[in-house]
Amino acid sequence: MDTLLLKGLPVSQNIKLSLKKEIDSLRNKNVIPTLSAVLVGNDPASQIYVNSKHKTFINNNCKSTVHKLDEHIPENELIDFIYSLNNDSDVHGILVQLPLPKHLNEEKVLEAIDARKDVDGIHPLNVGKLLRGIPDFISCTPAGCLEILKYYNIPVQSRHVVIVGRSNIVGKPLMALLSQKFKIGNSTVTICHTGTKDIKAYTMQADILIAAIGNPNYIDANMVKQGVDILDVGINRIKDDSEKGYKIIGDVDYDSVFGIANSITPVPGGVGPMTITMLLNNTVKAAGRTIS
Ligand code: GUN
Repeated sequence: MDTLLLKGLPVSQNIKLSLKKEIDSLRNKNVIPTLSAVLVGNDPASQIYVNSKHKTFINNNCKSTVHKLDEHIPENELIDFIYSLNNDSDVHGILVQLPLPKHLNEEKVLEAIDARKDVDGIHPLNVGKLLRGIPDFISCTPAGCLEILKYYNIPVQSRHVVIVGRSNIVGKPLMALLSQKFKIGNSTVTICHTGTKDIKAYTMQADILIAAIGNPNYIDANMVKQGVDILDVGINRIKDDSEKGYKIIGDVDYDSVFGIANSITPVPGGVGPMTITMLLNNTVKAAGRTIS
């Protein structure tokens, strides 16, 4: 079977093209969509993610500020800082990069963000709206997965979607989205996690398999059925001899499922490029609301 590559780049370019019109029209009204990213500590992967978000905003004629805060910042100071961003009318979107250092209570910190500026779709109000079927800001990686399914016309309605991984950022919102009676949705969703006894028994039944575990090459040919559509959300750094010292691989053993799957997102170059594009999309939406 020929396996179709679900590349993120054309999907992302398409969305950026339509966002350009909105960004230009907002700029004509003196509104420049602006993101404030908060990075606490020195986690190398988080630094790379935040920098690439920053670059994307600048390259798309928007504004972005990265606030690098000390890894030992007391929780109340971080929350006060978030309040100051909430009150800054020039800031349309706030993103607190995760994971946070251990001494900080993630729930308290995320709740401090004004839900109207929660372009990361991570605030409990936005998560609750999603669960009730009236989504507002949707978490960026799940939103990007839906855009990929839409762009490549992968059928979703009434199919069996198996999600491996129950993270707040990916697995749980995808479960909520794909089970809703939406155009890209209305599927039967099974969610597997560390408490699942026989994961293979479920992945073998998947019409669409979404791997979001953070475990390199976890899914292989023995765990999937012929014709499955696969979204690989994993971004795992593996040390190698390259100049960078590492390479990025997914949660799916790409070579082994190639020829068995109907389609698959490559890593890198699949879901990854979509996450930042959806962040841009959410920020432009938030900026647009300030004038309407
Ligand atoms: N860390 C890894 N992915 C994400 C994301 O989408 N949002 C935030 N805030 N932190 C992350």
